[in-house]
Amino acid sequence: MRRRSFLAMGAGAITLPALGTATAHAATATAAAPSAADASGVAPDALRALAAKIGLRIGTAVIPFDLNTPAYTDILKNQFSVVTPGNEMKWQVVEPTQGVFDWSGADRLVAFAKQNRQLVRGHTLLWHNQLPTWLTTGVSNGTIGAADLTSLLKQHIFTEVGRYRGQIWQWDVANEFFTDSNPSMINPNDFWVKNLGADIIPQAFRWAHEADPHALLFYNDYNIAGEDGTNAKSDAAYAWLKQMLAQGVPIHGVGDQGHLDTQYGFPTKMTDNLKRFAALGLKVAITEADVRTFVDGPDTQVPTDHLSTFAQPYEFSQMLKAALAVPECISFTVWGFGDKDSWVPGFFTGEGYATIYDVNLQPKPAYFDLQQDLKLAAYGAPRRVPTRMNH
Ligand code: XIL
Repeated sequence: MRRRSFLAMGAGAITLPALGTATAHAATATAAAPSAADASGVAPDALRALAAKIGLRIGTAVIPFDLNTPAYTDILKNQFSVVTPGNEMKWQVVEPTQGVFDWSGADRLVAFAKQNRQLVRGHTLLWHNQLPTWLTTGVSNGTIGAADLTSLLKQHIFTEVGRYRGQIWQWDVANEFFTDSNPSMINPNDFWVKNLGADIIPQAFRWAHEADPHALLFYNDYNIAGEDGTNAKSDAAYAWLKQMLAQGVPIHGVGDQGHLDTQYGFPTKMTDNLKRFAALGLKVAITEADVRTFVDGPDTQVPTDHLSTFAQPYEFSQMLKAALAVPECISFTVWGFGDKDSWVPGFFTGEGYATIYDVNLQPKPAYFDLQQDLKLAAYGAPRRVPTRMNH
């Protein structure tokens, strides 16, 4: 596979058309997005405010520890209208010891979101990674058999989804089930598939739906919008989703993680792939966008190839444009907004510079490109001045 071998404010560059008075602005916002995503205190050219004009939500993954840093929370509440806990809703974190729960990080983030008129993406209920050791050890030493594992999972889903019932906009119910091969398929070696069979995936959706009938339930994966170059993984996910929907499984959306890397170029089939998912009747989301490249080191994260400083914002902008082209695409979430917080340097040797703010929390070209795209989406380009022969 080409992309991943494991885990598989500043002023804008264009001028806003006159917004008119604050009242006129508020009136437009109400008409376009009753959600008040750009309500009081948020600058009209902030990402969340611009996106609200077309009913799109701009999100970010958050590490609740960062909520202690005012420079971080300022950006978080001003720029973003949806948050995803980067780790704090994963099973490993919420139940580190069997029967002993730690909801502190998740609770803190959900409360922060409410205070700042943000929605929450829950992430993630059924995944082979970041499972508690007591669970994986129990399965491997035989003390947890298939029937126990099924009821533990059911309990986990009801406990977690039930705890946040009514407070989660989108749940990533199942994460990363397809192989990176061509053709791609549901991975028979996945922890859950191997132990319980592939039917556990639709079952997880049914349980989650019962636990919170109003949450939008998502299937989430990387490279399902053509990033693999062959489109094999997208094809496999598409066929499976179609089949699940035909069987009445409560799946409401599909999330493409959107982890890109400048060395592979932009996946040109992204818009078409998102469109065909939408044509199945699904909502669509970009759930973990970042664009990594080779850098000098994890602390400074200066791209080693100067052209990357153009490719990185370009790919970010193209990804947002793919999302903007599809009305069913309801959120565009970045996987952390600052390079210092990004998972990339820790997971991809020698790479970084993957987010939209630099290591000092200053906005990068990618930020300004996204802002400009959203301005154009929100207001359109202003009409050219008339000339004698062209009016
Ligand atoms: C990552 C987190 O960002 C890291 O902090 C953690 O150590 C590993 O997981 N796909 C996903 C996310 O669905 O949950 C992963 O998050 C990144 C890849």
